[in-house]
Amino acid sequence: MKKVKAESSLKNENKQQFFELDRLILRLSKQFAGSSATEIEKKIGLALQQIVECLDIGRCTFWEVSEDETELRCIRQYVVPKLEKVYGVTPQQSPWISKDQWNGNCSCNVRNEDSVSGAKANKDALLLLGGKSFIISPFHIAGKAVAGMTFSTLEEDREFSPELVSRLNLIGEIITGAFYRKKIEEKYQQSIGDMRQQSGPARAEDFPLREDTKKEFRYQGIIGNSEAMQNVFIKMEQVAPTDSVVLILGETGTGKGVLARTIHELSNRNKKRIVTVNCAALTPNLIESELFGREKGAYTGSTEMQIGRFELADKGTLVLDEFTELPLDLQAKLLRAIQEGEFERLGSPRTIRVDVRILALTSRNLKEEVSKGRFRQDLYYRLDVFPITMPPLRERLGDIPLLVEHFVEQFNRKMQKEIKNISGGVMAQLMKYPWPGNVRGLEHIIERSVIVTQGTSLQLAEKLEDHTLGLTEENAATNLAEVEKRHILKILEKTNWRIDGSKGAAVLLGLHPNTLRGRMQKLGIRLQKTPS
Ligand SMILES: Nc1ncnc2c1ncn2[C@@H]1O[C@H](COP(=O)(O)OP(=O)(O)OP(=O)(O)O)[C@@H](O)[C@H]1O
Ligand SMILES: [Mg+2]
Repeated sequence: MKKVKAESSLKNENKQQFFELDRLILRLSKQFAGSSATEIEKKIGLALQQIVECLDIGRCTFWEVSEDETELRCIRQYVVPKLEKVYGVTPQQSPWISKDQWNGNCSCNVRNEDSVSGAKANKDALLLLGGKSFIISPFHIAGKAVAGMTFSTLEEDREFSPELVSRLNLIGEIITGAFYRKKIEEKYQQSIGDMRQQSGPARAEDFPLREDTKKEFRYQGIIGNSEAMQNVFIKMEQVAPTDSVVLILGETGTGKGVLARTIHELSNRNKKRIVTVNCAALTPNLIESELFGREKGAYTGSTEMQIGRFELADKGTLVLDEFTELPLDLQAKLLRAIQEGEFERLGSPRTIRVDVRILALTSRNLKEEVSKGRFRQDLYYRLDVFPITMPPLRERLGDIPLLVEHFVEQFNRKMQKEIKNISGGVMAQLMKYPWPGNVRGLEHIIERSVIVTQGTSLQLAEKLEDHTLGLTEENAATNLAEVEKRHILKILEKTNWRIDGSKGAAVLLGLHPNTLRGRMQKLGIRLQKTPS
């Protein structure tokens, strides 16, 4: 092996270069985030040029990896203009890939043959393309190599330091994430096109009576027939069988949790566990051991070893609910766990490897969290591979009657009621209400309404307009609970606090006595008198 001059690495990788490279990384991440799918390839070409100029190298190439992970297809390449003719790579000139190395998630400096097994084979293949020193880095999405980048000097030797390689890897991650987004978008457009072609022009029999088509309004547990929900279903079907990270966005109560469970059910991991961590509900010092586990004695008071949720979810699915609430230092650890599937338990140096599919949920505006510095940009790009946004109820008013029927049926069953119809007036009120709490808000009001309804036609538990004025999401929810509490208290007073029996409150409320007790407990109603 030729000796590489130490001076050259000093000369070429000085602080100024790192500084410029870091600025380039920031610029690229912004550029790719704001790009539509159709612009992405062009932007990759421009990015490669900027990389070549910043590193002062001869050629930079972005490759797509074939399905079987044995071939590379040149997507874009930039060669310094004066060397372009001599050192350009045609799409046919695919370097042979050593599968071991490619799967090994590591970059390989082909001048440094001892660093990685398989480097020799790569070196031979890459040198065939012309050049002197190369860095070749594979990029993975959900454990599968999907793309690669080569950074090459063409006429001089260069040693690439680990600090430089790690920056180049970050650039590769950003570009790969964008490229993958573009591919998914193309597939999505294609499948919408196919569906349109198959369904043909609309005919009268395409709209049969609701009873017959009821099943088509739901997907597993998810109700919805609006265009917005159809788009969610299409995306869900596309992504569920892959191991990709799914980013689920949407206001509170729009069904992010329901979607996450359905994706798990439709995935190949459905025989394994789905584990949820509610990042907003845990204090910052508890959350690390919740996620990654801790050894006995990791800190004062930890007398037992505790397995973290990542380990619990091994081979299954991990739902990170409200992940934007994670403190910044933990976000770095999370990035590594997602990227490499590796982490250490608190208080232990041993690295644990897991195979976990991540579903990341948030009701916050993620871009804003990033721009305010509360959320790491690199983690954002890692999670933003396949975003699905749950539409708020106000954007799918047409789904309200379906949801109302669904919830009435559900609570009929739970409370052994027999509500059979919902009057037009009641439905109109439900459709006019702005639903700050989205589907959850609607579900709660239907639950309360089923409780107070006597007979077969749904009666609303309260006048909805009274609660719309100037209410925030939170106090709307408290008010609804308050109304229910008052109603139950009134009936309890009437029955002299008797719950059971033919003259008890349960009968008057049309509830099973145990259901009533459950609700009283939930609402904080204590028996104030011994029933007489
Ligand atoms: N499309 C839907 N069909 C049927 N039920 C739904 C639907 N969307 C939501 N729900 C119901 O509404 C409630 C709220 O849903 P979920 O908890 O999934 O929302 P979320 O977006 O995760 O809310 P949050 O941000 O508050 O955690 C649940 O009880 C769920 O069963
Ligand atoms: Mg939720």
